[in-house]
Formats: sequence, structure tokens, C-alpha cells
Amino acid sequence: MAGYSDLVREHFEHPRNAGVLEHADGIGERANPVCGDRMRVMIRVAEGRVAEVRWQTRGCPAAIATSSFASEMVAGWELDAVRSLTREAIAEAMGGLPRDKVHCSVLAADALRAAVEDYERRRGSPSGQGIGEIP
Ligand code: FES
Repeated sequence: MAGYSDLVREHFEHPRNAGVLEHADGIGERANPVCGDRMRVMIRVAEGRVAEVRWQTRGCPAAIATSSFASEMVAGWELDAVRSLTREAIAEAMGGLPRDKVHCSVLAADALRAAVEDYERRRGSPSGQGIGEIP
């Protein structure tokens, strides 16, 4: 794993929060358009914040490490903050990724945002713009 920070290596070798979250409040799935690798992330929400995260990722070491890191990073965050999460923010917080691996952090950022969107869709759009579920 040449070129990876110690933090990236550590999360790849000892991933946190991997697995399935039963009865998740929101689920996001994304494929990386560059390589086709995939991530599924499940969140539980309490009082407008991320209370729990679990993930399943089929991807390279950088994708596994960023999935693990991001799952810890967003714990306790307000949903608005998760909505603004970027792949660059994840890569930077991990001490950087090799240039040809920065795209790998897109999975965690996009899947987490998708999980928040799914949570809001299930509850009905907070902005009242008509994307809520039909009972
Ligand atoms: Fe596919 Fe890294 S090469 S996510």
C-alpha cells in the first residue's frame, strides 16, 4: 500500500462499522463511475443527527478505508453537514490519498449523502417539495 497514509492503512486493515444495520432509517448505494466499485451505507438517525452507520463496500483498499473512516467521521453530525460532505474533505481528513486514488473516496461521500436523501424521502420532504412517499 505504497503512498497511503498510516491512517488509511490502519482503517483498511481494521475497518470500523462494517456490516448491516437492521431497520436502517436511510440507505444509500452508489457505484464509482471510474471503476464500478460499489458501496451501500445504512444510517440510523436520532434527533436530526447521524446516530449509527454501517456499510458494505466492494472496492479497492482506498474505498474500504474511506468507507470505514467516513462512518466514524459523520457519527453525531447533523444531516445538513452530511449533505455537504465531499470526497475531498474525506481524503484530506485522512491525510490525503495518492492522486490516482482520490476518486475512491467518492463512494463514501456520495453514498452517505444518498442515505440522508433516502431518510428524508421516507419521512416526506422537509422542504415540502413533493418527493415524499405516498401512503
Ligand atoms: Fe474503485 Fe478505488 S479503484 S473505488
